[in-house]
Amino acid sequence: MLTDATERFREGDITFGIVGLGYVGLPLAVEVAESGIRVLGFDVKEPVVEGVNRGESHVQDVESSRVAALRDDGRLEATLDPSRLAECDVISICVPTPLGKTRDPDVSYVLAAGREVAAHLHPGQLIVLESTTYPGTTRDVVLPLLREAGAGAGPEGGDLEVGRDFFLCFSPERVDPGNPTWKTYNTPKVIGGLTPACLEVGVAAYSRFIETMVPVSSPEAAEMSKLLENTFRAVNIALVNETAQIADRLEVDIWEVINAAATKPFGFMKFTPGPGLGGHCIPIDPHYLSWKMRTLDYRTRFIELASEVNAEMPRFVVGKVQEALNEVEKPVKGSQILVLGAAYKPNIDDVRESPALEILNELERLGARVAYHDPYIPEIVDDRLSWSSVELTDEALAEADCVVLVTDHDVFDLERIFDLSRLLVDSRNATGAIAEARGQGQPQRWIVKGSGGSRRQGEARPAGESEQAGESEQAGESEQAGESGREGESRQAGGAPEAENRMPARQPR
Ligand SMILES: NC(=O)c1ccc[n+]([C@@H]2O[C@H](COP(=O)([O-])OP(=O)(O)OC[C@H]3O[C@@H](n4cnc5c(N)ncnc54)[C@H](O)[C@@H]3O)[C@@H](O)[C@H]2O)c1
Repeated sequence: MLTDATERFREGDITFGIVGLGYVGLPLAVEVAESGIRVLGFDVKEPVVEGVNRGESHVQDVESSRVAALRDDGRLEATLDPSRLAECDVISICVPTPLGKTRDPDVSYVLAAGREVAAHLHPGQLIVLESTTYPGTTRDVVLPLLREAGAGAGPEGGDLEVGRDFFLCFSPERVDPGNPTWKTYNTPKVIGGLTPACLEVGVAAYSRFIETMVPVSSPEAAEMSKLLENTFRAVNIALVNETAQIADRLEVDIWEVINAAATKPFGFMKFTPGPGLGGHCIPIDPHYLSWKMRTLDYRTRFIELASEVNAEMPRFVVGKVQEALNEVEKPVKGSQILVLGAAYKPNIDDVRESPALEILNELERLGARVAYHDPYIPEIVDDRLSWSSVELTDEALAEADCVVLVTDHDVFDLERIFDLSRLLVDSRNATGAIAEARGQGQPQRWIVKGSGGSRRQGEARPAGESEQAGESEQAGESEQAGESGREGESRQAGGAPEAENRMPARQPR
């Protein structure tokens, strides 16, 4: 039987508040508003709020035209003023959940947002935490804030009670930046409520703009399902990265091995090796589970091992640069090295946790003269250095002692890069479809140009290995460091951003 509250969230005139208008919050805000619901977005960053109110999107997946249309008809507004949370019937919390310096969960953003929400709690509100976090956060961190705020605020001076006077759920966001197929509205969304009434109300509200809601019995189940999804990816990526290192030692082509294994029609899922994990999710989220389990005296061995193996990959790539230079009797020190791609995965403008950062810093530490080009990332500022993307000219390619392909953006002209480079290290097998790249480099296909052809003497090309371009080993299959397991789908055509920075490659800070 549907309660009045459920009816109101399912069909009524409601205002939907979204706290945190980043990679998750802004796409959600646009989706909700496009379903006809009034949306009030909250952020602590003035440029974010002002941009949205001008009808501009700062998130690559959301076109500004969509934001502008919603601004024009009054369905979307952004604000810095948390007191306006009182206007909202639903409040979704989409703030960051990073790791602290000691790699423990940093839930300070959730706490800050939770306190603001609690300060404006009123009867009938639905609060949904969407930030990825450890099992127990909704119940142990958010609920106490709301309970405290609701003390004495209920009917006849009683307390506001969860499941009766207000509703609380956890529903993890599954957004996959750059994925042209799976968007907020058509990706099934898991949700768990503190009480059955919370769940019913949560499903009713979200079903207005999400095609498939997946109810589970508790917030902990929902919190853990998200961590399982991301741990699954981290562990499988680590397995294939370790297998790639094994294949390298054995002088076997890992890509051939993977493609052969992937012909098994059951029981095998294809993951592809690369330069290491990146992004705001896969390298971070499993550590939320590890931390939680440490408090229960349990060591999450798979997570720790996966993290260790994946963390080795940037240095493995640097090792390949050293090897390639060694073949032409050059030290890394003093060599000019051009890194192509800085984003953590193709076709996006996000550099958070990108393995490119470690590759750049490590090459720099070894004394190389390093520059990078990424059409989506004009500048990188990290703890150690700040960098500006250089223009990808023929001269830049030809003058570099070694070119390192770190992120295989669709806009890269791989034939041109291959032709003009003197030495080319390809960390994603992006050049796998170029026949010469498969003939010139190492059999393992990390150094694809200039190793002097180290295919073992007398060995024929393995039977069945085609010379044709366009086989299944597309660069896009490498979801290394990405959110999506849907191979190839996260790729999208699209022109390079127009502005290319011509500033010097590196500026010590
Ligand atoms: N980016 C992804 O691909 C992705 C995918 C799935 C889940 N997630 C999870 O979603 C959550 C949000 O990630 P994101 O990538 O959108 O982060 P983000 O950094 O892009 O955006 C977060 C926004 O929250 C704002 N903010 C911080 N504290 C605030 C406060 N107290 N009040 C209002 N606004 C505040 C920040 O200014 C920022 O604009 C994280 O838990 C993340 O793990 C992210």
